[in-house]
Amino acid sequence: MGNPYFYLGGVSVNGQLDDDEPDHLLLDRRLRRPCAAAALRSGVRRPAPRGGAAARAVPAALTRHAGAGRILGMAKTSDTANRPGWMLDELASAGRENLDPEHVRRYDAKEDAGAPAEVRLLQDLGLGPDAHVVDLGAGTGQFTLAVAAVCARVTAVDVSPVMLELLRSKVAAAGATNVHTVRAGFLSYEHPGHADVVYSRLALHHLPDFWKAVALCRVRAMLRPGGLLRLSDVVFAFDPADTEQRVEAWCASIEGVTADDWVRADAEEHVRDEHSTFTWLLEPVIVRAGFDIEDATYSPDGVQAAYVARAVR
Ligand SMILES: C[S@@+](CC[C@H](N)C(=O)[O-])C[C@H]1O[C@@H](n2cnc3c(N)ncnc32)[C@H](O)[C@@H]1O
Repeated sequence: MGNPYFYLGGVSVNGQLDDDEPDHLLLDRRLRRPCAAAALRSGVRRPAPRGGAAARAVPAALTRHAGAGRILGMAKTSDTANRPGWMLDELASAGRENLDPEHVRRYDAKEDAGAPAEVRLLQDLGLGPDAHVVDLGAGTGQFTLAVAAVCARVTAVDVSPVMLELLRSKVAAAGATNVHTVRAGFLSYEHPGHADVVYSRLALHHLPDFWKAVALCRVRAMLRPGGLLRLSDVVFAFDPADTEQRVEAWCASIEGVTADDWVRADAEEHVRDEHSTFTWLLEPVIVRAGFDIEDATYSPDGVQAAYVARAVR
């Protein structure tokens, strides 16, 4: 156990993680480390201008080249004991609660991912019965299971063994034979071929901005040209000068009534310890990675954003 990647010794030939590692010992190590917090309930959405408004605001120099293909190769070393010393430890940054069996057990009662509406949106955008969907940071699989009912294949990817264990049990209970699960992360998952849709909700904020850029380039490389990225996360749609007022208002708005509710401390921990960024920082990165942002929607409190982005370059 001297090596924190002890359990990542179960690495398959393509650099992804063996599904059968004994997770409890790994968790014992991780839970001692204070780190990131919960993702929080969505507010009501406010439509943002359609037609790539965010993209138009991006300087041309940022949009020239995604470089996605080259970055993909990095995955071969990112999750092994031999990964370079500069490589982010995705498991260590996965969020304390996402490695906590008690939190994971209560997650579905705490968080409604709005999966049926997300599936309908994607169907409206062209998701059909032949589609291959990748759910990155799939968690307990609310979206995975909803979309599996209407497409050919879903690959549910998550770095947390605890989340994946629950997801797998739900997949088995549902008899969803078209769901494939992989323990890996944004920086290590290697997709065979090209997916039609990549979906990611409340997960990218676990990466610092530098790694978000790398991750988004890798997502672009997973998609066929014209494929869709549906990305939703805690992203701050306000000016830095308003940070105190906006963050305080958000924290104050979260009133846990039952044990299954998010509480103020979850929001505080999220802002303090995780890597949610500003919309005006993230959006140029999405474009630079090779996407057109076709829709950007911000919650009225300015703490969540949802994007429809199309792989174009
Ligand atoms: C708040 S949960 C969201 C789960 C699900 N997408 C939903 O909307 O309910 C965040 C998930 O992201 C996963 N995660 C954190 N860091 C990750 C990474 N680098 N790569 C992939 N998944 C990651 C966590 O393990 C957790 O399952």
